[in-house]
Amino acid sequence: MRHLTKTQQFTRASLQQLFELADRLEKEPDDSLKGKILASLFYEPSTRTRFSFESAMMRLGGNVLSMESASQSSSANKGETIEDTIRVVNHYADIIVLRHPESGASERAAKVSNIPVINAGDGAGQHPTQALLDLYTIYRELPKVDGIHMAIIGDLRYGRAARSIAYLLGKYKDIHFTLVSSPELRMSDDVKDYLKRHNITFEETESLEKAMKSVDVVYQTRVQKERFPSEAEYLRFKGQYIIDRRLADGMKEGAIIIHPLPRVGEIESEVDDSPHAVYFKQAFYGFLVRKALLKTMLSGKKS
Ligand code: CP
Repeated sequence: MRHLTKTQQFTRASLQQLFELADRLEKEPDDSLKGKILASLFYEPSTRTRFSFESAMMRLGGNVLSMESASQSSSANKGETIEDTIRVVNHYADIIVLRHPESGASERAAKVSNIPVINAGDGAGQHPTQALLDLYTIYRELPKVDGIHMAIIGDLRYGRAARSIAYLLGKYKDIHFTLVSSPELRMSDDVKDYLKRHNITFEETESLEKAMKSVDVVYQTRVQKERFPSEAEYLRFKGQYIIDRRLADGMKEGAIIIHPLPRVGEIESEVDDSPHAVYFKQAFYGFLVRKALLKTMLSGKKS
């Protein structure tokens, strides 16, 4: 894989290979990326994605060039195009991790880049490495991925993490989704058409309570304030679906609650010590899977 822009690029075999490598990297020290440089270009805020990629690169022996708030602090603020920025960064780094508010930005970057570009979230498009760590969490926490029933809750229209995991689970067998949202924030047709083509069954509902009782995985998501046309519109939906301890306690034994984080009230803190809550562990799994991804994409490449 030269660039990673969307989850559809993976096969089950490549996912298995990546996850086995992530398992090994948890146990074995590895400094095989000594001499390599990661450039992280973030035009939107981030805590987990940027830090976990940067930490992963450093733990593998590599170095990091880091640009946060790139819309203000890079020459994009003077009007430089993403293509020109990427062409220039190609001279300074071996791999680029890019977060950008525009859907399709990572594809634009990949077109002009001779070094690998990883999409770290492009607007309401995709967040493929989030989906990888979500899937890796399921792989680590449940007996198997095939056959699971997952509820995806919240902002399915603008949530790139929700879109990406739906695409990725399309590669597995006998998956069933319950898509919980208000009618205005339903999953878009491109994802639903993909699921139908891949024989993944799903239903759409507004009822959180019923879904939580029957599923193996609850994927709670944040309402994406930054994607709404106005604050008033966002406030109509914020707080619509909140998981509290009563709902968590009603889940099946062994079922898990995941969330890409940050949360802004949609999971009460009283849920954090529930045996079902794995969302903080999920952030650690993200570090492992990003380590495996960097090693895979940079292995054998000369600096
Ligand atoms: N889940 C996620 O992308 O988190 P950050 O925005 O903190 O990177």
